[in-house]
Amino acid sequence: MLVQAYNLMAFLLFLLFPYIISTNTHACKQTERSSLMSFASTLSSPPLNWTSIDCCRWKGITCDQDGWVTRLLLPSKGLKGGISPSSLANLTHLTHLNLSHNSLLGSLETQFFLHLNRLEILDLSYNRLSGELPLSLPSSNIQTVDLSSNHFFGAIPSSFFQQASNLTSFNVSNNTFTGYVPSSICLHSSPSLRLLDFSSNVFSGNLAPGLGKCSKLQVFRAGHNNLLGLLPEDIYNATKLEEIALPLNSLHGAISDKIVNLTNLAVLDLSFNHFGRELPHNLGKLSKLKLVTLDFNNLEELHLRNNSLEGDISMLDFSRLRQLTKLDLRVNNFTGTVPVSLYSCRSLKAIGLAINNLDGQIEAEILSLKSLSFLSLGYNRFTNLTGAMKILMSCKSLHALLLSGSFVGERMPSDDHMVDLTDSKIFEH
Ligand SMILES: *[C@@H]1O[C@H](CO)[C@@H](O)[C@H](O)[C@H]1NC(C)=O
Ligand SMILES: *[C@@H]1O[C@H](CO)[C@@H](O)[C@H](O)[C@H]1NC(C)=O
Ligand SMILES: *[C@@H]1O[C@H](CO)[C@@H](O)[C@H](O)[C@H]1NC(C)=O
Ligand SMILES: *[C@@H]1O[C@H](CO)[C@@H](O)[C@H](O)[C@H]1NC(C)=O
Ligand SMILES: *[C@@H]1O[C@H](CO)[C@@H](O)[C@H](O)[C@H]1NC(C)=O
Ligand SMILES: *[C@@H]1O[C@H](CO)[C@@H](O)[C@H](O)[C@H]1NC(C)=O
Ligand SMILES: *[C@@H]1O[C@H](CO)[C@@H](O)[C@H](O)[C@H]1NC(C)=O
Ligand SMILES: *[C@@H]1O[C@H](CO)[C@@H](O)[C@H](O)[C@H]1NC(C)=O
Ligand SMILES: *[C@@H]1O[C@H](CO)[C@@H](O)[C@H](O)[C@H]1NC(C)=O
Ligand SMILES: *[C@@H]1O[C@H](CO)[C@@H](O)[C@H](O)[C@H]1NC(C)=O
Ligand SMILES: *[C@@H]1O[C@H](CO)[C@@H](O)[C@H](O)[C@H]1NC(C)=O
Repeated sequence: MLVQAYNLMAFLLFLLFPYIISTNTHACKQTERSSLMSFASTLSSPPLNWTSIDCCRWKGITCDQDGWVTRLLLPSKGLKGGISPSSLANLTHLTHLNLSHNSLLGSLETQFFLHLNRLEILDLSYNRLSGELPLSLPSSNIQTVDLSSNHFFGAIPSSFFQQASNLTSFNVSNNTFTGYVPSSICLHSSPSLRLLDFSSNVFSGNLAPGLGKCSKLQVFRAGHNNLLGLLPEDIYNATKLEEIALPLNSLHGAISDKIVNLTNLAVLDLSFNHFGRELPHNLGKLSKLKLVTLDFNNLEELHLRNNSLEGDISMLDFSRLRQLTKLDLRVNNFTGTVPVSLYSCRSLKAIGLAINNLDGQIEAEILSLKSLSFLSLGYNRFTNLTGAMKILMSCKSLHALLLSGSFVGERMPSDDHMVDLTDSKIFEH
């Protein structure tokens, strides 16, 4: 028994031996240790417990074979106090720096990135860092930069992205940056960008062209700023885009029907801007589009006829489209019941829902649409049409009610047409 245990121990030692050797080769360089000590010394509680000799074994630290610190990962450690950028900048072999979700103070000095030219991942989000950005991001190795939810300010220097040819993700949302959104970022560098988030800052002016060159861009957010002017035409060239979110700005103009080229688009949030009165009729051709938020734009007409749209119509929220006068969703594959929020669009004059797979019944709330003169419901699966008719009979404004029938000749009336339909109620059944 004893012999066996002895053998087992020898065996274990044999197994562990290479590990002991290799951790020895990881022994931390003294200069790295003092840079880390200097970083820790400016922080207040709680302690990092960085006491042992070999800094490569400290919590949050990873070293390479030669004892250079490559990773400093201390997210959500309750760290408080000022950071000392010069001590971090002395960790010249860093590839990953993640200090997110702490309470760090201070700013990134101009020199900050100068020596960190191996850095790939930088996450300083959710701290209390402030000041202006250094003149330039480090090296072509940098891939992810998250400075969001801090107190940074000033303009993003025009030279900032010049070396960052491998940048894939850049998030500066929720700070107080000013100046222009650097939307020309892909003209000179960074063709690998996939994610750009400039939202919740004080950026102003026009969106300059350039995004069209971001051939891999999937997410573009710049909402809640002071942006003006038109959407740059070349945004429709960034065909990998899955999300465009620009709410709460002062953008205006029409949304081009070139948007149909953005076949991957799933989220389009242009709410609280001054975009035009109509959406492109082909918007529904975007088969992945799930969320179109355009509330409080001066949207008056929504024409999405014959677009193979599907999904539960009761999930659509119409409550903010107060100015909507015409809604044409005919010839699609919508399912579900008509949402009550539709009845709060008090300006509605024409509703076309025919040729879908809608069910349920028409609620009496529809009577609050005092201007409604055209209603087309045919070729659906509505139940209780008798009830619906009873309701709709008392809808005084209604000139055309199409419950079912041929869709040949059943067209949404034009503005002139609306006036022409002065005859008594038309029923096709
Ligand atoms: C340091 O050790 C204390 C006591 O063990 C612990 O509460 C604290 O979380 C440790 N600090 C870090 C950064 O791990
Ligand atoms: C950083 O390195 C420089 C030059 O090697 C040295 O003078 C300085 O004291 C170091 N700073 C810190 C905070 O370790
Ligand atoms: C930083 O660490 C947090 C917590 O582990 C993690 O959620 C986040 O993704 C990391 N940041 C980056 C850029 O990897
Ligand atoms: C960009 O990243 C890829 C892989 O991540 C790497 O092979 C390439 O060398 C990098 N390019 C530059 C210019 O650093
Ligand atoms: C950017 O960071 C914020 C947190 O500060 C986060 O809510 C947001 O989702 C991030 N943006 C992207 C595109 O991931
Ligand atoms: C914005 O940043 C502040 C300060 O860092 C933070 O407290 C807040 O949660 C952030 N807001 C969002 C929406 O991320
Ligand atoms: C969009 O891309 C096409 C083809 O690369 C190019 O000819 C066109 O000029 C681009 N449009 C804009 C507005 O940049
Ligand atoms: C949209 O796609 C069509 C053909 O697929 C192309 O002719 C047109 O140039 C594209 N528009 C833009 C803005 O890229
Ligand atoms: C729907 O559009 C297709 C072509 O896009 C057309 O062939 C078809 O006639 C249209 N159907 C209706 C009912 O308008
Ligand atoms: C509805 O979907 C079916 C099959 O999923 C398809 O054959 C039909 O063309 C679609 N109708 C419309 C109007 O998109
Ligand atoms: C049909 O609708 C009318 C009017 O809304 C209602 O009074 C009646 O109860 C409904 N009948 C059924 C079977 O749901």
